[in-house]
Amino acid sequence: MEVFAFFVGGILPYITVVLFIFGMGYRFYVWAKTPQPGRMTLFPAPDSLAGGVLAESLFFPSLFKGDKILWLFAWIFHATLALVFLGHIRVFTALIDRMLLAFGMNPEGIDVMSATAGGVAGVLLLTTGLLLLVRRISVRRVRDISGIPDFSVMILLIAIIVTGDLMRFGTHFDLEQTRVWTVSLLTFSPIVPPNGGFILHAFLAMILIIYIPYSKILHFGGIFFTQALVRRR
Ligand code: HEM
Repeated sequence: MEVFAFFVGGILPYITVVLFIFGMGYRFYVWAKTPQPGRMTLFPAPDSLAGGVLAESLFFPSLFKGDKILWLFAWIFHATLALVFLGHIRVFTALIDRMLLAFGMNPEGIDVMSATAGGVAGVLLLTTGLLLLVRRISVRRVRDISGIPDFSVMILLIAIIVTGDLMRFGTHFDLEQTRVWTVSLLTFSPIVPPNGGFILHAFLAMILIIYIPYSKILHFGGIFFTQALVRRR
């Protein structure tokens, strides 16, 4: 267990950073290099390209037009995921706490706000994630176009959310440990938090991060390329 914990906390983070940066760089290079034979405008050209891309990325209007129930689950899922990512800044650094203290909040208030936002986001993320997985399994036309990678990534995401929620609602985790861990990684002298739940959560999360550039999860990056292509004037 100790060897695995050191691998996850002391070695895997470096492997993750290298593979993620390399993979993202490669994917963006391929997209940017892909020839575009003619100018395409699939939609009536909107007034503002940047505005259209931003609206599509934030509110998914094309999906709303196509399937309102799927839009609802998908939007809540992505919005809470964004909230959880923002919340994770507190996991890695005390910067947010310092800023909020400077704005006059007290430490108890910060903890209550974080526990409420993190708790609500954790439950909503798990619920909508499970609903999206159930839809993929139970709706025939969706099941027919789903492959093993689609199911695996949903199961991996749900496992990450469950292990995160267990820390949030069950075992509780002292964030000072992850902040020390972050600094120790930056100075190449890893101090790994001795907590099985944390190690499992971090391991699954890093597998996901490594997989992102090589998988369909990268649709969040592709949207800027495809939307720019179809909406340009
Ligand atoms: C290496 C990367 C990650 C680390 C070190 C990490 C660490 C943590 C920690 C320490 C907590 C407990 C927070 C608390 O109780 O105050 C937590 C909660 C959580 N994590 Fe992560 N996490 C990582 C990546 C992720 C990813 C990629 C996801 C989602 C895809 C995720 C989803 C969650 C959820 C849903 C919770 C519970 C709700 C919340 O506290 O926000 N985590 N994580």
